[in-house]
Amino acid sequence: MKGKIVLVTGANGGLGGFVTQAFLDLGATVVGTSRKIQQSDFSSAGFMAVPAEISTLAGAQALMEQVLARFARLDVLAHTVGGFAGGQPVADTDDATFQRMFDLNLSATFHILRAAIPALRQAGEGRIIAIGSRAALEPGAGVGAYSASKAAMVLLIRTVAQENKDAGLRANVILPGTMDTPANRKSDPEADFSKWVQPASIASLITWLAGDAGKDINGAVIPVYGNDA
Ligand SMILES: NC(=O)c1ccc[n+]([C@@H]2O[C@H](COP(=O)([O-])OP(=O)(O)OC[C@H]3O[C@@H](n4cnc5c(N)ncnc54)[C@H](OP(=O)(O)O)[C@@H]3O)[C@@H](O)[C@H]2O)c1
Repeated sequence: MKGKIVLVTGANGGLGGFVTQAFLDLGATVVGTSRKIQQSDFSSAGFMAVPAEISTLAGAQALMEQVLARFARLDVLAHTVGGFAGGQPVADTDDATFQRMFDLNLSATFHILRAAIPALRQAGEGRIIAIGSRAALEPGAGVGAYSASKAAMVLLIRTVAQENKDAGLRANVILPGTMDTPANRKSDPEADFSKWVQPASIASLITWLAGDAGKDINGAVIPVYGNDA
């Protein structure tokens, strides 16, 4: 990964932190973004923090302008921004919750894709790896807004894979089951953590897809369900 410029969205999140560190460990230069990201979040010289709000197109474009002003290229987009809300059946889901899920999981993806694809096409072997969710394929009671937003996001990534293969760009989406993050341990302390997916496993899959072997994989939807498959 030496010489590669990697943009990790959600770089200070439960998964994004592992993804950022994994790319740094492989020698990449990593631009880490989120609304509250700080330079002190990672100690590596290869890390650059750029705070951004990407649920608007203007925010995503301003972020990309900073990346290009500093590095003049982008090789990899690892998009981990997303979020969960649930608990209510569809009949009782309010507009605000539905809208929030679509803003965070679908619109943010759409905006960062629009902002980043031109530079990724220019890179020649650009890579997009996005994080969906098991819920994109498997419905469950009380998660309708989340599931629908992630399902739409999966089709957006697969469309981008088709539209940009001519430029050597590869776009794939990973669908994690429940991950073993501090936030999940706190919200479900009685769960069997051993069944959950390790964020490090997802991070390692992302860096693999971003590497040379990943050139043969495009438009894939990859389930990673841990010991609960
Ligand atoms: N956790 C799970 O069990 C699980 C399971 C399946 C799928 N997933 C998916 O995996 C991904 C990562 O999950 P996670 O648990 O690591 O989430 P997380 O810890 O909540 O991290 C989310 C990240 O997104 C950033 N963010 C949120 N809204 C943003 C916005 N509008 N603009 C820019 N950055 C924003 C947050 O940072 P700031 O607050 O600083 O902006 C944070 O870095 C998500 O897409 C999630 O849906 C998670």
